Amino acid sequence: MAFASGERSPAAVGDQAGSVAPSHPLLTGSEPAPPGPEVAPTLPILSARGVRKTYRTGAGTVEALRGVDLDVNPGELVMVMGPSGNGKTTMLNCLSGLDDIDAGTVTIDGEDLHALTDAQRTAQRARRMGFIFQSFNLIPVFTAAENVELPLLCTGVRPREARERAHDMLERVGLGSRGKHRPLELSGGQQQRVAIARALVNEPAIVWADEPTGNLDTHTASDVLHLMREFHAAGQTLVVVTHDHQIGTSSERLVQMIDGLVNYDGHPDGAPPDPTFDS
Ligand SMILES: Nc1ncnc2c1ncn2[C@@H]1O[C@H](COP(=O)(O)OP(=O)(O)OP(=O)(O)O)[C@@H](O)[C@H]1O
Ligand SMILES: [Mg+2]
Repeated sequence: MAFASGERSPAAVGDQAGSVAPSHPLLTGSEPAPPGPEVAPTLPILSARGVRKTYRTGAGTVEALRGVDLDVNPGELVMVMGPSGNGKTTMLNCLSGLDDIDAGTVTIDGEDLHALTDAQRTAQRARRMGFIFQSFNLIPVFTAAENVELPLLCTGVRPREARERAHDMLERVGLGSRGKHRPLELSGGQQQRVAIARALVNEPAIVWADEPTGNLDTHTASDVLHLMREFHAAGQTLVVVTHDHQIGTSSERLVQMIDGLVNYDGHPDGAPPDPTFDS
């Protein structure tokens, strides 16, 4: 594993390291909390309200999101599951600002994401978000190190510092010796580790992962899950879409999407069965 015990927290989550994930409201019992020291309430990093998205094509319209509400608090690991075609990717794209929405609001740290211009939204994504995709989406002509450097260079980090930070992140994902390899010279699991390093190198407020283990065998998928959990344990906020039951139930918070709506949001133990769950 990439993280030796006692090793310092990943650079990517440095300013959040040590923070404790707040318990989700749905996990809290009905007993009133005992009196204690005043603690400032934690504001969500991301807050979505009534988000709607309709795709219009020659073949007709598809209401992919029909009024999604979701809060993501600092330090949470939110798993998103649900049957195919029920709006998981659309939700991720709309909540991260990769795609436009038709109605509703998405605020990131209090800023209305969809009120920004395209250029502002792109800058916001580059600064505040990381992305991990099923097909890795690495740039094939770049080395692993260059792929990881890219988000830093895009946000104005000097090349020398970018190189050092990329190398540091590759070490943290267990690929310190593979920085000069191009993606096609790496296994699928290694490529996804590079993609994770790239997503985290900019110290994002939130990381979005859409089926990050979908192209990996079971053993490699569990390695990648372990790595994401390591970063989460160090304070990183992640939203992970998955069809993998083991991954979906490995966090304290599961969001289930059915028919363009959040059908369930809470501990996986209480989730209603759906076709994905039983697969
Ligand atoms: N670009 C698009 N144009 C038209 N329809 C789309 C587009 N993208 C998605 N859809 C439709 O929106 C609905 C939701 O799709 P989405 O990709 O969000 O599902 P999903 O839950 O991620 O599915 P999967 O688990 O298979 O990845 C589907 O009916 C899909 O066909
Ligand atoms: Mg999808």
